[in-house]
Amino acid sequence: GIDISALRRDTGLITLDPGFANTGSCKSAITFMDGEKGILRYRGYPIEQLAEHSSFREVAYLLINGELPSKKEITRFSVLLNDHSLVHEDMRTFFANFPRASHPMGILSSMVNALKSFYPYIEGEKEANITVARLISKVRTLAAMSYKISRGHTVVYPRQDLSYCENFLNMMFHSPVRPYKIDPDIVQALSVFLILHADHEQNCSTSAVRLVGSGKVNLYASISAGIAALWGHLHGGANQAVIEMLENIVERGESISRIIERAKDKKDPFRLMGFGHRVYKTYDPRTKIIKSMCDTLLEKLHIHDPLLDIAKELEEIAVNDDYFIENKLYPNIDFYSGIVLRTIGIPTNMFTVMFAIGRLPGWIAQWKESMDDPEWKLNRPRQIYTGYQERNYIPIEER
Ligand code: ACO
Repeated sequence: GIDISALRRDTGLITLDPGFANTGSCKSAITFMDGEKGILRYRGYPIEQLAEHSSFREVAYLLINGELPSKKEITRFSVLLNDHSLVHEDMRTFFANFPRASHPMGILSSMVNALKSFYPYIEGEKEANITVARLISKVRTLAAMSYKISRGHTVVYPRQDLSYCENFLNMMFHSPVRPYKIDPDIVQALSVFLILHADHEQNCSTSAVRLVGSGKVNLYASISAGIAALWGHLHGGANQAVIEMLENIVERGESISRIIERAKDKKDPFRLMGFGHRVYKTYDPRTKIIKSMCDTLLEKLHIHDPLLDIAKELEEIAVNDDYFIENKLYPNIDFYSGIVLRTIGIPTNMFTVMFAIGRLPGWIAQWKESMDDPEWKLNRPRQIYTGYQERNYIPIEER
């Protein structure tokens, strides 16, 4: 790339790059992506290796601290996560007062912002580590708590003896009348799902976190902005939109060919959900992993999900269609991730919350990196003004 930062002050030069498709907003040592070759690495480690061998907790540590943890370090991190997994009891009254139909992403964004009021002090490195653990641990508790309250069920508290993913599943699905049996295949599927979502360089929500943070806004509020940015169906909300699209086909008989035709019709704003990516112009490496996980998970659990058959059929038609070939549109992670989440038992309106739990370590790592950046600058893009030239005010009687 060309570094134009030196020209900025002297010439007033403004580059216009709609959607920032070719604009670098920062230097980063966290995640490497090659969109032409379909490569994704966190801190140099290929996503395939991390998905196969690591855990979400370890990947979170890696992204935030830069290196894989030693045994001692991961134990210390786990203790911190356990110590800070409970949420303030007063926060329960917030949940109770959201209208029933509120979207869980709106609730989560508000609750994370509110954490700053409950835990206001961030001083020194020790407190910063606690804030990180607090966020990672509490966001999971808040998500499960919000689900329980939305169903009118008793809240289940986190347990010290369970791993990060086990705890989440238990808080979501355990009830005094129907104890939840933890299944290692489901735990593994959840862990891989979270690992695959953990970071993706300067995507829309991460850029929101960095931009808000660049005004020296605290971590909680910056993450809350990231959650809001993730909500949209062109970004994180796509996982919910994909399942709704597949359900329309299976349950309401919408035809696959009509969906493909609508996606290709430039007069129709409809897009094939879960297809296309700003950076990947080949198969998304995360999709390969999650697609094969769908097959193995469903097989192990002896489940047949007609939505998976339809998704595969749609993919087959789309990847052989000239429109999708010419526009280099391949299935992204959201195309198959919803099938995994459905199998785990996550309700559709919580899919994007699951994405947020996964993306959290990435947002934190990127926020920290930007705060430590010696070249740090307030993010403040310019514009090309296209409005009126100067004109005189007209009194209301004369308009
Ligand atoms: N269906 C139909 N056409 C599409 C699709 C799609 N899913 N995606 C892109 N196109 C078309 C566009 O209409 C455009 O055509 P044009 O140049 O004739 O106008 C062309 O392909 C290029 O697309 P852009 O919109 O310019 O590409 P951009 O990088 O801005 O968009 C995006 C990327 C937003 C992901 C887009 O592909 C999309 O809307 N996909 C569907 C939503 C989705 O799956 N989002 C999840 C993304 S991954 C993530 O956030 C985890």
